[in-house]
Amino acid sequence: MRYRLPTKNDYEILKEYVIEHYSNGEKGISASLGMTNMNYDIWVEKINRNSREADDEWGKYYLYLVFNDNNSLVGLLNIRYNLAPHLRDMYGDIGYGVRPSERKKGYATEMLKYALIVCKEKEMEEVILGCYENNYGSNKTIVKNGGVLFRQDVEKKQLSDNWNIELKCNYYKIKL
Ligand SMILES: CC(C)(COP(=O)(O)OP(=O)(O)OC[C@H]1O[C@@H](n2cnc3c(N)ncnc32)[C@H](O)[C@@H]1OP(=O)(O)O)[C@@H](O)C(=O)NCCC(=O)NCCS
Repeated sequence: MRYRLPTKNDYEILKEYVIEHYSNGEKGISASLGMTNMNYDIWVEKINRNSREADDEWGKYYLYLVFNDNNSLVGLLNIRYNLAPHLRDMYGDIGYGVRPSERKKGYATEMLKYALIVCKEKEMEEVILGCYENNYGSNKTIVKNGGVLFRQDVEKKQLSDNWNIELKCNYYKIKL
């Protein structure tokens, strides 16, 4: 597996990655930090800049493109090792997504393992991760990497005037 920051030359492979998610009926790209909502080159500059300099909201972070041994893009990994405490509690320190055709092959488990090594190098003592209760793949990925459940919240979302839904979210800690 290879992990690196995005460059301006990655537009076509990321476009394929996005199309695959939408063709699979998914409405967003996990861990992409707004990639599809902004100009691609500006997004690349922002992600590269925030790997060196803190931004007001998220601090410093890495957003890595993750490639397998065949050099294919399999996922995105976001390591927010510099988050303010209230944001850590709400969003967790790490986010990830794997493209639909590459799921259930162990990639997310490997990606989280790598993220934990990076967090340890940043002298963190523990990481917080959150995921929806019904996201079986993500819950299992976290538990396989030593995650211990410490909180369950109910997230209320108003989708429109007459649609209010509640989603259960699990929060885990992993000691480093
Ligand atoms: C969640 C996600 C990252 C898992 O990625 P993945 O590469 O398929 O995960 P892994 O292959 O490492 O699987 C980890 C474990 O979960 C299991 N698993 C994965 N997807 C599963 C699913 N949909 N249902 C049940 N179990 C699942 C795997 O079988 C494996 O368990 P095992 O080792 O006992 O076989 C991927 O489904 C995804 O990108 N989903 C959309 C984005 C997302 O939810 N991101 C996380 C937000 S918190």
